[in-house]
Amino acid sequence: MKSILFVDDEPMVLQGLQRMLRPHRAIWDMSFAASGAEALAMLEGNALEGKAFDAVVTDMRMPGMDGASLLEQVRDRYPAAIRIVLSGYFEKEAAMRALPVAHQFLAKPCDPGKLRDAIDRAVGFMGLLPDVALRRVVGAIGKLPTLPRTSALLVQALQDPDVQTDEIAAIVEQDVGITAKMLQLVNSAFFSLPNYVTSVRMAVNYLGLDTLKQLVLSVELFRTLQPSQAVAGFSLEHLQEHSQLAARIAAGLPAPEPVVAAGVVAAALHDTGKLVLAARLPHEFQLALQASRAQKLPLHVIERTQMGTTHAEIGAYLLGLWGLPDSVVDAVCRHHCPVAAEGDQGLDVLAITHVADGLATEVDGNDAEDAPAAGLLDIAYLARLGLDARLPVWRTMARQVLEDLRGE
Ligand SMILES: [Fe+2]
Ligand SMILES: [Fe+2]
Repeated sequence: MKSILFVDDEPMVLQGLQRMLRPHRAIWDMSFAASGAEALAMLEGNALEGKAFDAVVTDMRMPGMDGASLLEQVRDRYPAAIRIVLSGYFEKEAAMRALPVAHQFLAKPCDPGKLRDAIDRAVGFMGLLPDVALRRVVGAIGKLPTLPRTSALLVQALQDPDVQTDEIAAIVEQDVGITAKMLQLVNSAFFSLPNYVTSVRMAVNYLGLDTLKQLVLSVELFRTLQPSQAVAGFSLEHLQEHSQLAARIAAGLPAPEPVVAAGVVAAALHDTGKLVLAARLPHEFQLALQASRAQKLPLHVIERTQMGTTHAEIGAYLLGLWGLPDSVVDAVCRHHCPVAAEGDQGLDVLAITHVADGLATEVDGNDAEDAPAAGLLDIAYLARLGLDARLPVWRTMARQVLEDLRGE
């Protein structure tokens, strides 16, 4: 049974939620607070009894403490709780302030099914990580570490009043953190788009430059809170290059367009967990990298023994919290150890991600962390999907993609 705390200053809204969610009483233990202060008191009372809320769902605009300030406190004091903003469509501006502290954004009014699904999915991802301590680490993260260089470029480009969408998209695409946050935002309920937006170009168009500016600004603000500790054996630049190469290879694989589109996103984000580890558990991550080198074993194998989880699961967990689509989250989660279901044939999102990562590592070796295991590709898995014979052609394509990237 999951316990959820709802916060809204309007009694009508709270009563409405209470009525609407009554059928979920069997699966959720629900509490309702009329202000940020009341919510904090309830969180504290719960903690004193040794209990914890799994999720806090809050309104944005409230007198006294607003939703963003409340979630900031929740992040600092109860980092394991999932933080969701539920706010009116016209409060987009206000909701921006919650960007660095909220995992998900839902628009009011929200139909009960949608609300239940979003909360269920978010709390469901808690099962991905076995260890409570690790979950707290991931819960404390509002964004991924990003390359300062890219962000600086973006802020600079946005100062030009005649800047073109393509220019902005090209800059954003190089940054895993901002790309992920942007896709999260554009795909959130605020924009209620009929289709999932997977391209940065489309996202820039939907968001508009003003919103994008705020997005970047909030990312920048949060970045100042980043510990800037170097991790021996790990390079952000290399990971960025590896992710970009994998994404480009994914784009060149033959599958129906929506599958490739999701595959490109998954390939770009597949090693997100490494960013999380480098930023939040630098010491443990460094030990795992060293052991991987010394024992000539893949990093994920070492991570499993040393930490009980892997960068694949940590990345998937975070992306899941952010509301990225299941196919992407699943592909990120299993990119090292793909499993084919009975009757699966051809390239799906997981297969694209696995192949793109494997080939990127093979042709470049820039995924230095995983390099000791030359041959990351699971040939038996690919054979089951009837794809193994096509590898030589894809390998050639991957080499060409690398050459093109280096030429740019
Ligand atoms: Fe990986
Ligand atoms: Fe990788």
